[in-house]
Amino acid sequence: MNDLAQLLQSAQAEFAQASTPADLENAKARFLGKSGQVTELMKGLAALPVEEKKTRGAEINQLKQGIEAALNARRQALADAELEKQLKAEALDVTLPGRQRGTGGLHPITRAMERIEAIFGSMGFDVADGPEIETDWFSFSSLNNPENHPARSMQDTFYVDMKDEGGRWFNLRPHTSPMQIRYAQAHAKRYAGQDTMPEIRVIAPGRTYRVDSDATHSPMFHQVEGLWVGENISFKDLKSVYLNFITAFFETDALQLRFRPSYFPFTEPSAEIDIMFETGPLKGRWLEVSGAGQVHPQVIRNMGLDPERYIGFAFGSGIDRLAMLRYGVNDLRLFFEGDLRFLSQFK
Ligand code: PHE
Repeated sequence: MNDLAQLLQSAQAEFAQASTPADLENAKARFLGKSGQVTELMKGLAALPVEEKKTRGAEINQLKQGIEAALNARRQALADAELEKQLKAEALDVTLPGRQRGTGGLHPITRAMERIEAIFGSMGFDVADGPEIETDWFSFSSLNNPENHPARSMQDTFYVDMKDEGGRWFNLRPHTSPMQIRYAQAHAKRYAGQDTMPEIRVIAPGRTYRVDSDATHSPMFHQVEGLWVGENISFKDLKSVYLNFITAFFETDALQLRFRPSYFPFTEPSAEIDIMFETGPLKGRWLEVSGAGQVHPQVIRNMGLDPERYIGFAFGSGIDRLAMLRYGVNDLRLFFEGDLRFLSQFK
Protein backbone atom coordinates (compact mmCIF):
# COMPACT_ATOMS: atom_id res chain seq x y z
CA MET A 1 0.00 0.00 0.00
CA ASN A 2 1.47 3.36 -0.91
CA ASP A 3 1.70 6.31 1.46
CA LEU A 4 -1.39 8.02 0.06
CA ALA A 5 -3.62 4.99 0.52
CA GLN A 6 -2.33 4.70 4.07
CA LEU A 7 -3.10 8.31 4.73
CA LEU A 8 -6.66 7.86 3.49
CA GLN A 9 -7.06 4.86 5.75
CA SER A 10 -5.81 6.67 8.85
CA ALA A 11 -8.08 9.66 8.06
CA GLN A 12 -11.08 7.34 7.79
CA ALA A 13 -10.11 5.67 11.07
CA GLU A 14 -9.73 9.00 12.92
CA PHE A 15 -13.00 10.31 11.58
CA ALA A 16 -14.74 7.15 12.67
CA GLN A 17 -13.37 7.60 16.16
CA ALA A 18 -14.57 11.19 16.47
CA SER A 19 -17.74 11.01 18.51
CA THR A 20 -18.65 14.71 18.48
CA PRO A 21 -18.63 17.37 15.75
CA ALA A 22 -15.80 19.15 17.61
CA ASP A 23 -13.66 15.97 17.64
CA LEU A 24 -14.36 15.55 13.96
CA GLU A 25 -13.28 19.11 13.11
CA ASN A 26 -10.03 18.57 15.02
CA ALA A 27 -9.40 15.39 13.07
CA LYS A 28 -10.13 17.21 9.83
CA ALA A 29 -7.51 19.87 10.71
CA ARG A 30 -4.86 17.19 11.13
CA PHE A 31 -5.32 16.23 7.44
CA LEU A 32 -6.75 19.20 5.60
CA GLY A 33 -5.78 22.09 7.92
CA LYS A 34 -3.11 24.71 7.16
CA SER A 35 -0.33 22.39 8.29
CA GLY A 36 -2.32 19.19 7.90
CA GLN A 37 -0.76 16.12 6.32
CA VAL A 38 -2.43 16.54 2.94
CA THR A 39 -1.53 20.21 2.85
CA GLU A 40 2.10 19.33 3.55
CA LEU A 41 2.05 16.83 0.66
CA MET A 42 0.78 19.58 -1.65
CA LYS A 43 3.60 21.86 -0.54
CA GLY A 44 6.08 19.04 -1.33
CA LEU A 45 4.92 18.98 -4.98
CA ALA A 46 6.85 22.16 -5.73
CA ALA A 47 10.15 20.35 -5.45
CA LEU A 48 9.25 17.59 -7.95
CA PRO A 49 10.11 17.48 -11.64
CA VAL A 50 7.27 18.48 -13.97
CA GLU A 51 6.20 14.98 -15.12
CA GLU A 52 6.13 13.55 -11.60
CA LYS A 53 4.39 16.66 -10.36
CA LYS A 54 1.47 15.91 -12.72
CA THR A 55 0.85 12.31 -11.67
CA ARG A 56 1.62 12.91 -8.00
CA GLY A 57 -0.58 16.00 -7.99
CA ALA A 58 -3.49 14.07 -9.46
CA GLU A 59 -3.03 11.32 -6.85
CA ILE A 60 -2.95 13.80 -3.99
CA ASN A 61 -6.09 15.43 -5.33
CA GLN A 62 -7.81 12.09 -5.41
CA LEU A 63 -6.69 11.46 -1.85
CA LYS A 64 -8.03 14.83 -0.83
CA GLN A 65 -11.42 14.05 -2.35
CA GLY A 66 -11.44 10.69 -0.62
CA ILE A 67 -10.74 12.32 2.73
CA GLU A 68 -13.42 14.98 2.17
CA ALA A 69 -15.93 12.31 1.25
CA ALA A 70 -15.10 10.41 4.46
CA LEU A 71 -15.36 13.64 6.43
CA ASN A 72 -18.79 14.51 5.02
CA ALA A 73 -20.08 11.00 5.59
CA ARG A 74 -19.00 11.16 9.22
CA ARG A 75 -20.50 14.64 9.65
CA GLN A 76 -23.79 13.37 8.38
CA ALA A 77 -23.66 10.32 10.61
CA LEU A 78 -23.00 12.45 13.71
CA ALA A 79 -25.85 14.84 12.82
CA ASP A 80 -28.23 11.92 12.28
CA ALA A 81 -27.26 10.43 15.63
CA GLU A 82 -27.82 13.78 17.35
CA LEU A 83 -31.26 14.15 15.80
CA GLU A 84 -32.15 10.61 16.76
CA LYS A 85 -31.12 11.32 20.35
CA GLN A 86 -33.23 14.49 20.47
CA LEU A 87 -36.27 12.79 19.04
CA LYS A 88 -35.96 10.08 21.67
CA ALA A 89 -35.63 12.62 24.48
CA GLU A 90 -38.61 14.66 23.35
CA ALA A 91 -40.69 11.67 22.46
CA LEU A 92 -44.39 12.32 22.24
CA ASP A 93 -46.45 9.32 23.17
CA VAL A 94 -49.46 9.72 20.95
CA THR A 95 -51.20 6.84 22.68
CA LEU A 96 -51.50 8.81 25.96
CA PRO A 97 -54.94 10.29 26.71
CA GLY A 98 -55.18 14.00 25.92
CA ARG A 99 -54.71 16.62 28.62
CA GLN A 100 -58.03 17.91 29.87
CA ARG A 101 -58.91 21.42 30.75
CA GLY A 102 -60.56 21.22 34.19
CA THR A 103 -64.18 22.19 34.07
CA GLY A 104 -65.12 24.20 37.13
CA GLY A 105 -68.52 24.08 38.74
CA LEU A 106 -70.68 26.26 40.89
CA HIS A 107 -70.51 25.79 44.64
CA PRO A 108 -73.54 23.88 45.95
CA ILE A 109 -74.57 26.87 48.04
CA THR A 110 -74.38 29.11 44.98
CA ARG A 111 -76.47 26.57 43.10
CA ALA A 112 -79.04 26.58 45.88
CA MET A 113 -79.09 30.39 45.86
CA GLU A 114 -79.59 30.50 42.13
CA ARG A 115 -82.47 28.05 42.44
CA ILE A 116 -84.05 30.15 45.16
CA GLU A 117 -83.68 33.33 43.10
CA ALA A 118 -85.19 31.66 40.04
CA ILE A 119 -88.17 30.30 41.97
CA PHE A 120 -88.98 33.56 43.75
CA GLY A 121 -88.24 35.44 40.55
CA SER A 122 -90.98 33.44 38.87
CA MET A 123 -93.34 34.62 41.63
CA GLY A 124 -92.49 38.26 40.95
CA PHE A 125 -89.92 38.81 43.70
CA ASP A 126 -87.02 41.18 43.19
CA VAL A 127 -83.56 40.08 44.38
CA ALA A 128 -81.57 42.45 46.60
CA ASP A 129 -78.08 42.44 48.01
CA GLY A 130 -76.80 44.30 51.06
CA PRO A 131 -73.81 44.91 53.33
CA GLU A 132 -72.47 42.19 55.60
CA ILE A 133 -71.00 44.68 58.06
CA GLU A 134 -74.07 46.32 59.55
CA THR A 135 -74.96 49.04 61.98
CA ASP A 136 -76.67 48.33 65.24
CA TRP A 137 -79.73 50.11 63.90
CA PHE A 138 -80.23 47.90 60.85
CA SER A 139 -79.36 44.58 62.52
CA PHE A 140 -81.39 45.19 65.67
CA SER A 141 -83.08 48.46 66.63
CA SER A 142 -84.93 49.04 63.35
CA LEU A 143 -86.18 45.48 63.68
CA ASN A 144 -87.86 46.34 66.94
CA ASN A 145 -85.07 44.81 68.95
CA PRO A 146 -83.87 47.64 71.23
CA GLU A 147 -80.58 47.84 73.10
CA ASN A 148 -80.54 45.80 76.28
CA HIS A 149 -83.57 43.80 75.15
CA PRO A 150 -83.11 40.12 76.04
CA ALA A 151 -84.11 39.13 72.49
CA ARG A 152 -80.71 40.35 71.35
CA SER A 153 -79.13 37.30 72.91
CA MET A 154 -81.04 35.09 70.45
CA GLN A 155 -78.17 35.83 68.12
CA ASP A 156 -74.60 35.46 69.27
CA THR A 157 -73.34 38.36 67.28
CA PHE A 158 -69.82 39.08 66.07
CA TYR A 159 -68.97 42.73 66.60
CA VAL A 160 -66.50 44.72 64.55
CA ASP A 161 -63.90 46.83 66.32
CA MET A 162 -65.32 50.05 64.92
CA LYS A 163 -68.20 52.31 65.92
CA ASP A 164 -70.85 54.06 63.87
CA GLU A 165 -71.84 57.75 64.17
CA GLY A 166 -74.10 56.94 67.12
CA GLY A 167 -71.15 55.36 68.96
CA ARG A 168 -72.45 51.81 68.52
CA TRP A 169 -70.32 48.90 67.40
CA PHE A 170 -70.72 47.69 63.85
CA ASN A 171 -71.63 44.01 63.61
CA LEU A 172 -71.33 41.18 61.12
CA ARG A 173 -75.02 40.85 60.33
CA PRO A 174 -76.43 37.87 62.26
CA HIS A 175 -79.34 37.58 59.83
CA THR A 176 -80.50 38.98 56.50
CA SER A 177 -83.41 40.84 58.15
CA PRO A 178 -81.65 44.25 57.94
CA MET A 179 -82.36 43.98 54.22
CA GLN A 180 -86.09 44.22 54.98
CA ILE A 181 -85.54 47.73 56.26
CA ARG A 182 -82.93 48.77 53.69
CA TYR A 183 -84.99 47.63 50.74
CA ALA A 184 -88.36 48.84 52.02
CA GLN A 185 -86.97 52.26 52.97
CA ALA A 186 -85.57 52.76 49.46
CA HIS A 187 -88.84 51.58 47.98
CA ALA A 188 -90.93 53.86 50.22
CA LYS A 189 -88.68 56.79 49.36
CA ARG A 190 -88.97 56.14 45.62
CA TYR A 191 -92.78 56.26 45.75
CA ALA A 192 -93.13 58.93 48.47
CA GLY A 193 -95.89 61.44 47.70
CA GLN A 194 -97.63 59.20 45.18
CA ASP A 195 -101.17 57.93 45.70
CA THR A 196 -100.28 54.31 45.29
CA MET A 197 -97.12 52.39 45.88
CA PRO A 198 -96.36 49.11 44.12
CA GLU A 199 -96.11 46.25 46.58
CA ILE A 200 -92.75 45.40 48.07
CA ARG A 201 -91.83 41.91 47.02
CA VAL A 202 -88.20 41.01 47.49
CA ILE A 203 -85.81 38.30 48.55
CA ALA A 204 -82.33 39.05 49.87
CA PRO A 205 -79.98 36.08 49.91
CA GLY A 206 -76.49 36.36 51.36
CA ARG A 207 -73.89 35.63 53.99
CA THR A 208 -74.67 35.93 57.68
CA TYR A 209 -72.54 35.43 60.80
CA ARG A 210 -72.98 34.10 64.32
CA VAL A 211 -70.67 32.83 67.06
CA ASP A 212 -71.62 29.22 66.52
CA SER A 213 -69.85 26.14 65.17
CA ASP A 214 -70.86 22.49 65.00
CA ALA A 215 -72.14 19.95 62.45
CA THR A 216 -75.21 22.04 61.70
CA HIS A 217 -73.85 25.53 62.45
CA SER A 218 -71.02 27.46 60.86
CA PRO A 219 -69.86 30.93 62.03
CA MET A 220 -70.51 32.03 58.47
CA PHE A 221 -73.71 30.75 56.95
CA HIS A 222 -76.32 31.84 54.45
CA GLN A 223 -79.85 33.09 54.74
CA VAL A 224 -82.45 34.29 52.36
CA GLU A 225 -84.77 36.97 53.58
CA GLY A 226 -88.19 37.30 52.03
CA LEU A 227 -90.50 40.29 52.31
CA TRP A 228 -93.90 40.98 50.83
CA VAL A 229 -95.65 44.14 51.95
CA GLY A 230 -98.80 45.62 50.47
CA GLU A 231 -102.24 46.79 51.52
CA ASN A 232 -103.71 43.37 51.96
CA ILE A 233 -101.03 40.75 52.43
CA SER A 234 -101.76 38.20 55.08
CA PHE A 235 -100.45 35.07 56.70
CA LYS A 236 -102.29 32.97 54.13
CA ASP A 237 -100.09 34.54 51.41
CA LEU A 238 -97.03 33.57 53.40
CA LYS A 239 -98.35 30.05 53.59
CA SER A 240 -99.04 29.69 49.87
CA VAL A 241 -95.85 31.44 48.76
CA TYR A 242 -93.72 29.32 51.05
CA LEU A 243 -95.42 26.10 50.04
CA ASN A 244 -94.92 26.99 46.38
CA PHE A 245 -91.29 27.74 47.03
CA ILE A 246 -90.56 24.58 48.99
CA THR A 247 -92.27 22.22 46.55
CA ALA A 248 -90.42 23.88 43.65
CA PHE A 249 -87.10 23.82 45.49
CA PHE A 250 -87.32 20.13 46.38
CA GLU A 251 -89.18 19.22 43.19
CA THR A 252 -91.82 17.28 45.06
CA ASP A 253 -95.38 17.70 46.26
CA ALA A 254 -94.89 14.90 48.73
CA LEU A 255 -94.12 17.15 51.67
CA GLN A 256 -95.98 18.97 54.40
CA LEU A 257 -95.51 22.39 55.89
CA ARG A 258 -96.07 23.30 59.53
CA PHE A 259 -96.15 26.72 61.15
CA ARG A 260 -95.03 26.47 64.75
CA PRO A 261 -95.70 29.49 67.01
CA SER A 262 -92.49 31.31 67.85
CA TYR A 263 -91.13 34.70 68.75
CA PHE A 264 -89.18 37.32 66.83
CA PRO A 265 -89.18 40.99 67.83
CA PHE A 266 -89.82 42.05 64.22
CA THR A 267 -92.86 39.87 63.49
CA GLU A 268 -96.18 39.46 65.21
CA PRO A 269 -97.42 36.79 65.11
CA SER A 270 -94.23 34.82 64.54
CA ALA A 271 -93.69 31.26 63.47
CA GLU A 272 -91.04 28.70 62.67
CA ILE A 273 -91.69 26.90 59.42
CA ASP A 274 -91.02 23.16 59.49
CA ILE A 275 -91.22 20.80 56.56
CA MET A 276 -91.71 17.05 56.46
CA PHE A 277 -91.00 14.82 53.47
CA GLU A 278 -93.52 12.06 52.90
CA THR A 279 -90.99 9.91 51.06
CA GLY A 280 -87.24 9.43 50.88
CA PRO A 281 -84.61 9.03 53.56
CA LEU A 282 -85.88 11.97 55.66
CA LYS A 283 -89.49 10.74 55.53
CA GLY A 284 -91.62 11.54 58.54
CA ARG A 285 -89.23 13.93 60.33
CA TRP A 286 -90.12 17.57 60.93
CA LEU A 287 -87.24 19.77 59.85
CA GLU A 288 -87.00 23.44 60.71
CA VAL A 289 -86.19 25.56 57.67
CA SER A 290 -87.29 29.11 58.38
CA GLY A 291 -88.39 31.80 60.75
CA ALA A 292 -91.34 33.88 59.58
CA GLY A 293 -94.21 36.06 60.57
CA GLN A 294 -96.35 39.07 59.92
CA VAL A 295 -94.21 42.20 59.87
CA HIS A 296 -94.51 44.07 63.20
CA PRO A 297 -96.25 47.49 62.89
CA GLN A 298 -93.20 49.20 64.42
CA VAL A 299 -91.01 47.65 61.73
CA ILE A 300 -93.45 48.89 59.04
CA ARG A 301 -93.08 52.35 60.59
CA ASN A 302 -89.27 52.07 60.55
CA MET A 303 -89.51 51.27 56.85
CA GLY A 304 -91.10 54.70 56.39
CA LEU A 305 -94.58 53.28 55.84
CA ASP A 306 -97.91 53.69 57.61
CA PRO A 307 -98.78 50.53 59.56
CA GLU A 308 -102.46 51.47 59.36
CA ARG A 309 -102.22 51.03 55.60
CA TYR A 310 -99.44 48.54 54.95
CA ILE A 311 -99.15 45.00 56.16
CA GLY A 312 -97.15 42.01 55.06
CA PHE A 313 -95.05 39.01 55.92
CA ALA A 314 -91.37 38.25 56.15
CA PHE A 315 -89.37 35.10 56.43
CA GLY A 316 -85.72 34.22 56.88
CA SER A 317 -84.62 30.77 55.74
CA GLY A 318 -81.31 29.00 56.13
CA ILE A 319 -79.92 28.37 52.66
CA ASP A 320 -77.26 25.94 53.89
CA ARG A 321 -79.97 23.93 55.62
CA LEU A 322 -82.02 23.80 52.43
CA ALA A 323 -78.95 22.76 50.43
CA MET A 324 -78.10 20.04 52.98
CA LEU A 325 -81.61 18.63 52.72
CA ARG A 326 -81.68 18.83 48.96
CA TYR A 327 -78.30 17.18 48.44
CA GLY A 328 -78.36 14.84 51.45
CA VAL A 329 -75.31 16.40 53.13
CA ASN A 330 -75.12 15.65 56.85
CA ASP A 331 -72.37 18.05 57.94
CA LEU A 332 -72.70 21.73 57.13
CA ARG A 333 -68.97 22.29 57.51
CA LEU A 334 -68.29 20.21 54.36
CA PHE A 335 -69.62 23.10 52.30
CA PHE A 336 -66.90 25.44 53.53
CA GLU A 337 -63.79 23.24 53.72
CA GLY A 338 -62.99 23.64 50.03
CA ASP A 339 -62.35 19.90 49.54
CA LEU A 340 -62.65 19.26 45.81
CA ARG A 341 -63.55 15.61 46.36
CA PHE A 342 -66.73 16.87 48.00
CA LEU A 343 -67.36 19.91 45.84
CA SER A 344 -66.81 18.25 42.45
CA GLN A 345 -69.81 16.02 43.09
CA PHE A 346 -72.05 18.99 42.39
CA LYS A 347 -71.97 19.41 38.66
N1 PHE B 1 -84.14 36.81 61.16
C1 PHE B 1 -84.67 35.64 61.75
C2 PHE B 1 -83.54 34.71 62.15
O1 PHE B 1 -82.46 34.88 61.67
C3 PHE B 1 -85.60 34.90 60.81
C4 PHE B 1 -86.84 35.68 60.47
C5 PHE B 1 -86.83 36.50 59.37
C6 PHE B 1 -87.96 35.60 61.24
C7 PHE B 1 -87.99 37.21 59.03
C8 PHE B 1 -89.10 36.26 60.93
C9 PHE B 1 -89.11 37.08 59.83
O2 PHE B 1 -83.70 33.81 62.94
